[in-house]
Amino acid sequence: MSMQKQLAGRSLLTLTDLTDGEFLYLLDLADELKRKKHAGERGACLDRKHIALIFEKMSTRTRCACAVAASDEGGATEYLTSLDIHLGKKESVKDTARVLGRMFNGIMFRGFKQETVDALSQHSGVPVWNGLTDIHHPTQGLADLMTIRESFGRLRGLKVVYVGDGRNNVATTLMLACAKVGIHFVNCTPEALMPEGKMVSWCKERAQLNGGSVSIDTDPVTAVVGANVIYTDVWVSMGEEDKQAERIALLSPYQITMEMMKRTGNLDKKEVIFLHCLPAFHDTETEVTKESGALEVTDEVFEAPFSRVFDEAENRMHTIKALFVSAIGQQK
Ligand code: CP
Ligand code: NVA
Repeated sequence: MSMQKQLAGRSLLTLTDLTDGEFLYLLDLADELKRKKHAGERGACLDRKHIALIFEKMSTRTRCACAVAASDEGGATEYLTSLDIHLGKKESVKDTARVLGRMFNGIMFRGFKQETVDALSQHSGVPVWNGLTDIHHPTQGLADLMTIRESFGRLRGLKVVYVGDGRNNVATTLMLACAKVGIHFVNCTPEALMPEGKMVSWCKERAQLNGGSVSIDTDPVTAVVGANVIYTDVWVSMGEEDKQAERIALLSPYQITMEMMKRTGNLDKKEVIFLHCLPAFHDTETEVTKESGALEVTDEVFEAPFSRVFDEAENRMHTIKALFVSAIGQQK
């Protein structure tokens, strides 16, 4: 069966839903769609396709990526927050799923519980994509690996070190993504923020099959040596704002600094990049950081030439478009 047929009608709830081959195919498709967009070619793969965007949490990138991706290929989106629809309040998730499935061709969900996105997928009868839950962020993982491959021209054999809150949605997803493509992945995090054991075992096994590896390291001094990618995310994710003080105390030694970037040994050789899913606390221009100053990354690193965070943000759009086109698009 061709990949196009294999992915038609498919949901993406976590990266474990994709075979390694399907994951790489989506990266190739995203590259092609990016080339097409930059060449100014307009597409019609999503002509008359309607996509519901259910967002329980805030978003800049994911929401806008969905809207632009759909529109570029002739489709349309409807943005629905918890204030707009009955989901889980006056109506069960199951009933809302069945209603939306009668009107829309696909649903992007961002919210708290993984169970909600699972239920939408189970009952809507249309493809459902996870635009971030408390434990997974699969569309981010696609954009991250697309950006790494663009920067180095390859994935296999690279060393990616995630430094920070090691059990959050982005860290877990990056670990899954790296395991699929033969990357050597290190999750550098304190004992208190270790990723779930079962997930780590799954990733270790998968990485080994692909010629890569997955390990956990609590020491930010040694873990980054030899890294080609230093990746971090906020220390406090959406929904856990009450943990701010505790996380700052725990994670301050894990801040990404120029000193840490030098310790990779790859900075002078231009063989290391910095990535962050964004939004990032790198300056004092936000409500959170005007008192505290930069948190997970210094402004110097964030603004450095080796920082690829805005390519990464743009790639959210190309990879989400690839997902839409592969699942509900008409043949090109
Ligand atoms: N990286 C990401 O998901 O960004 P948003 O929260 O702005 O969608
Ligand atoms: N871990 C972050 C990612 C934001 C894109 C959060 O869940 O808030």
